[in-house]
Amino acid sequence: MDTLLQHYNPVSTNQVKTWFKACLEKDIPENGGACIKYQNKQIAIFNYKRKQKWYACQNLCPHKMEMVLSRGMIGDTEGIPKIACPMHKKTFSLETGENLNGDLPSIATFPVKLENGFVYIGFSE
Ligand code: FES
Repeated sequence: MDTLLQHYNPVSTNQVKTWFKACLEKDIPENGGACIKYQNKQIAIFNYKRKQKWYACQNLCPHKMEMVLSRGMIGDTEGIPKIACPMHKKTFSLETGENLNGDLPSIATFPVKLENGFVYIGFSE
């Protein structure tokens, strides 16, 4: 099971080699998320409308290895935008991927850019 996690390494903006055209902006619900596939990865994309920000992270929750994070609730803890897994409500920072309420591994986060109504996700390969 751990091998699944190895598919997901965080990418910072300066590491981006490929901007993948993932979907239309309007495909992602406001203050919600949806999942896209890139190579062997499932990526959750969030339109955090209340903060006017977009985020992307692995769809895989490291708690029970479920592909569910795109269906979680987005929120905020002391100014940190977060995603709560819909299964058992473990929460992760959407900025750093850090697990905010436990000792789970961090999740991988990915840069997002918007251009001409499309959402692009940055990958390092
Ligand atoms: S599977 Fe995500 S919190 Fe349990």
